[in-house]
Parts: sequence; structure tokens; C-alpha cells
Amino acid sequence: MNSTEWKEKLSFIRNDFFNSAIKSNSGDISALETEYIGRKGFLTFLLKDLKNFSLEEKKILGPLGNTLKAEITDKISELKNKFGSLSSSGLKNDFDLTLSARPYPKGSLHPITQTINKMTEIFLKLGFSVAEGPFIENEYYNFEALNIPEDHSSRDMHDTFYASIKDSKNRNLLLRTHTSPVQIRTMEKLKPPLRVISPGRVFRRDAIDASHSFVFYQIEGFYVDKNVSMADLKWTLETFIKELFGEKVKLRFRPSYFPFVEPGAGVVMPCVFCSGQKGTCPGCKGTGWIEVLGAGTIHPKVLKYCGYDSDAWSGFAFGAGVERFAMLLFGIKDMRVLYENDLRILKQL
Ligand code: DAH
Repeated sequence: MNSTEWKEKLSFIRNDFFNSAIKSNSGDISALETEYIGRKGFLTFLLKDLKNFSLEEKKILGPLGNTLKAEITDKISELKNKFGSLSSSGLKNDFDLTLSARPYPKGSLHPITQTINKMTEIFLKLGFSVAEGPFIENEYYNFEALNIPEDHSSRDMHDTFYASIKDSKNRNLLLRTHTSPVQIRTMEKLKPPLRVISPGRVFRRDAIDASHSFVFYQIEGFYVDKNVSMADLKWTLETFIKELFGEKVKLRFRPSYFPFVEPGAGVVMPCVFCSGQKGTCPGCKGTGWIEVLGAGTIHPKVLKYCGYDSDAWSGFAFGAGVERFAMLLFGIKDMRVLYENDLRILKQL
């Protein structure tokens, strides 16, 4: 080989190398390195050939060969940097594997849904099943069968959203004001013993403020069996509250009146905002206690309305405001936060 042929070979190797380098991907950089500047590489061979040339020729050809070797070495390290240490093969070189992934916004359940799920799960573990009822009710299920008398203030136009039409039995239609009608609908359909909860939306003619809204959520619960007593109610509610807020929480049952239970109780727990310390806490209006449930043993009249023999069967019932629980669980003092759906807040809950 004379010096012209040597130079042509060198130029051929250069073109060949740079063409291959353009097409290379993370998997073949090392192969490329071995192929051109490895111990038996194309360029290595050509450089070895220099020993057959005269000193004069070596002075010209040597630097040419070394320059290409330096160029190839630089390119190889540039490619290695580009692909980093990831050498999984098969990826095209227009993927930049060093770029971090694009952030992908993740959705989450609304705090009210989270609260309903939490509460429901506990009752499922206690053997309750879930039933649902319609939002549009009639007076019979919402009031009459629950022993709510004709002149009770909750039947008032000021409290209840009435529709201007009646149902086929000439009963006034309305948006249910509580989840208690689901008790009646379920007992009508099923025979005791029964253990049922019913979460859902309810409607009242209330103005919106920190603790009221015209649409909100309740969870109703009831249990009918032989010899069900206040003691069963107390155990069930205490177990439920302890599961939600911890073993140390103490409940108080205070006498209260709801037409569909007898006796009736208002269930209170120590305020989570001031730890029951009273004073000027807005969470409990300074009383140190927060009412979390209404409850009682089911009124015999209600059992009779549903066709149950009230001498053979007895039961307890309870109703809870879901928003109240959401506020206690998430430490929210103003209920409106739950309805405004400000993403900056929802993302934290
Ligand atoms: N329905 C009642 C309300 O909306 C809550 C309630 C109280 C439900 C006592 C019950 C109960 O089942 O026993 O205010």
C-alpha cells in the first residue's frame, strides 16, 4: 500500500465511522468503539501499517491517523454521555432518555366521597348492607310513616322543597329532607332481621353558611331483630366512632326527640378542634362537645307502618351528617370549603 492508498483508506474509515455514529443508539456505542478503535479495529489496523512507511511519510501520515483517532474517541464519549449509562438496546437515538417524565395530574376522590366510603366500610365490617332510596320522595315516606305529625315544623314550606305536582296516590312530592325514608322503603320490602345503612343526598330549604347548605349528605343506619336495645345501639355507635377517631374517643348519649325513635338520643363527642376544652372555639360554639349523630330505638308505630309485629321485633336507628364527619376528619371549620371545589384545597384533602 502506498501513501495515497493509505490516505484513501483513512478517509473511507472516517466516512464510514461518522455514518454509523449518526445511526447509532445506546445499545451499539461500545460495538462501534471496538469496531473502529479497538485492538483489532479498522483504524488500529491502519495505524499499525504505518511501520511499513518511510520516516518522511510517517511524519505526514502519522498525524493524520492520530487526528482521526482523537475525533473518533471524542465522538464515542459524546455518544456515551448522550445515552448515559442506560444501554438498553433497540431505542432510536431521537429519544432523550435523560429527560424526566412529564408531570401527569392525578385525580382524587372528593373529601365527601372519601368520608362516605370510610364510614360505609366500617358498617360493612359490622355486617350492615347498603340500600339506596330516591331523592324525590312523597310525604308518606318522608314524614307520615316516620311518625312525623301533620303539624311538625319540618313539614313546613319553609323547611322542605315541595314539587308542584302530586304522585298517583295524590300524595305531595318533595325532595327528601333526610335519609330516614330509606328505613321505611327497605323494611317494606325485606323481612327482619335487618342491618342496613343508606348514604345519600338530602335537601332542605336552608341558607348557606359555615354549617348549613340546601343540599348535603347523610348516612342512615338501622338494625331490626329480636330484643334489640339501646345497649346494642351504644355498642355499635361507639365501635364506629372509635374506628374513625381512635380508641380514646368517649361518646355521650343525651336525651333528644325524633318522632321515629323512642327513646331518642343526640350523640356527642369531644370537639376535635379544641379537644373538648370549651372556651371560644367556633368548632363547638364553646361547649367542648360536637353532636355527631341522632339515634334511638325505632318507634313501634314505625315498625307497624312497615308491617312488622312490634311485639316480636325491635330495632335501633341512627342518622349522621356526612359533612360534619368530613369536617372533623379533615379539620375543616367551614362547610362551604366542601362545596366550592377549589382545586388548591381539594388537592390537599
Ligand atoms: N333524620 C334525622 C334528621 O335528619 C336524623 C336521625 C335522627 C335519623 C335519629 C335517625 C334517628 O335514624 O334515629 O335530622
